[in-house]
Amino acid sequence: MTSPRVALIGGCRTPFAKAGTVYRQLTALDLAKACVRELVERTELDASIVDTVVMGQVIPSVKAPNLGREVVFGTGLPPGIPAHTVNRACASANEAIVAVTLAIQSGRAQVGLAGGAESLSDVPILHSKKMAQALVEASRARSLGARIRTFASIRPRDLVPDTPAIAEPSTGLTMGQSAEKMAKENSISREEQDRIAYLSHRNLAAALDDGRLAPEICRVWVPPDYQTVATVDNLLRRDTTLEALAALPPVFDKRYGTVTAGNSSPLTDGAAVVLLMAEDRARALGYTPLAFVREWATAAVDPGGQLLMGPGLAIPKCLDRAGLKLSDMDVIEMHEAFAAQVASNIQALESETWAKEKLGKTAAVGKVDRERINVNGGSIAVGHPFGATGARLTTSLARELQRRNGKYGLLSVCAQGGMGFAMILER
Ligand SMILES: CC(C)(COP(=O)(O)OP(=O)(O)OC[C@H]1O[C@@H](n2cnc3c(N)ncnc32)[C@H](O)[C@@H]1OP(=O)(O)O)[C@@H](O)C(=O)NCCC(=O)NCCS
Repeated sequence: MTSPRVALIGGCRTPFAKAGTVYRQLTALDLAKACVRELVERTELDASIVDTVVMGQVIPSVKAPNLGREVVFGTGLPPGIPAHTVNRACASANEAIVAVTLAIQSGRAQVGLAGGAESLSDVPILHSKKMAQALVEASRARSLGARIRTFASIRPRDLVPDTPAIAEPSTGLTMGQSAEKMAKENSISREEQDRIAYLSHRNLAAALDDGRLAPEICRVWVPPDYQTVATVDNLLRRDTTLEALAALPPVFDKRYGTVTAGNSSPLTDGAAVVLLMAEDRARALGYTPLAFVREWATAAVDPGGQLLMGPGLAIPKCLDRAGLKLSDMDVIEMHEAFAAQVASNIQALESETWAKEKLGKTAAVGKVDRERINVNGGSIAVGHPFGATGARLTTSLARELQRRNGKYGLLSVCAQGGMGFAMILER
């Protein structure tokens, strides 16, 4: 029995917003629900035929850690749909898409929703270990005196809250410091990084202005009063110029660095989701697929080296599995964690040395056509809600492929832990 082709029917995302702004009162779950509801409506999906829901989230909400399952409730989906949540860092929504794809290919599901959400406005704030222990002991104490005594050894420093760092647990380096290291070791100039950031904003502005992205972005009515409506990404800076970018101070190495707030992806809130179906089922229901999942691959590097080089390995692995070349790709979506990471991975793909040393190949993977990459903006301008970005990239890639009447599209994501993800869509 041949496995069914997996069709991407549609996708939808919330407008992405700088953390602490329009969605500051909302949770990742609120955002996920808003875009799942909208996708179900836009695709006129009969919710009773959904077999599975898989969502990605990187910093889980302590009170609703299984985002996938919680999304089922309150979105018009029947409560009998099993659902789970995955975490492959910034490639979490991609991993959710893979989970549904595998379920469809193996015949265990025919229709599934996959995506992810993140709220960096709503990260769990932890107590210090000592304070947490005192609170647990106090809750068990049998008298007021005993309860008070549990706090006797608490000092002011134990009251300092512990927020999750966007850092690599194994090395302690933040993502930004890692990008800085890559910029230095790969000789990525400040000009090159700022150019990537500039194009990210310019391309997003053009894509929003001509309405190209409208079908993939929903509105979010913001509780509690529902008077504010988020309609558009609020991180886009239409006034960005190369000169303004060049004037920004480096953030992660203030003295010798080149990575700035302008050429980094910002801390973001948002959600995104896609609808996947077995091809036969889609056609029987009268859906016209946007694209099909052709192949995907994951790879990883040692975080102690260059942390965000995963795509440099995952992309060739994915191309090889598909039996395709980089030059076959009509469109490329490369997640922009940092401009330095994009430039470093492009450099690797175009390098014979990388091919020989890391891939055991004699020739470079191929030239990256700058006219085909991140043509509708990238994570620097759009924003990067960790758990959601993979689904944004997938929808954008499929829709741009359709717009260009192309055949193959490639996406890649770098992720914490030195991981990389790549997927090829085809039409
Ligand atoms: C880089 C980072 C620290 C910047 O955070 P921030 O200081 O809150 O950023 P801001 O948006 O306030 O920008 C800082 C300044 O740069 C300016 N700026 C940012 N982007 C700009 C642009 N494109 N053009 C002109 N100015 C810009 C802002 O206006 C601001 O100026 P001000 O200080 O005069 O107000 C933060 O975005 C970050 O940590 N990013 C990395 C996230 C990460 O690690 N992700 C994981 C990826 S794998």
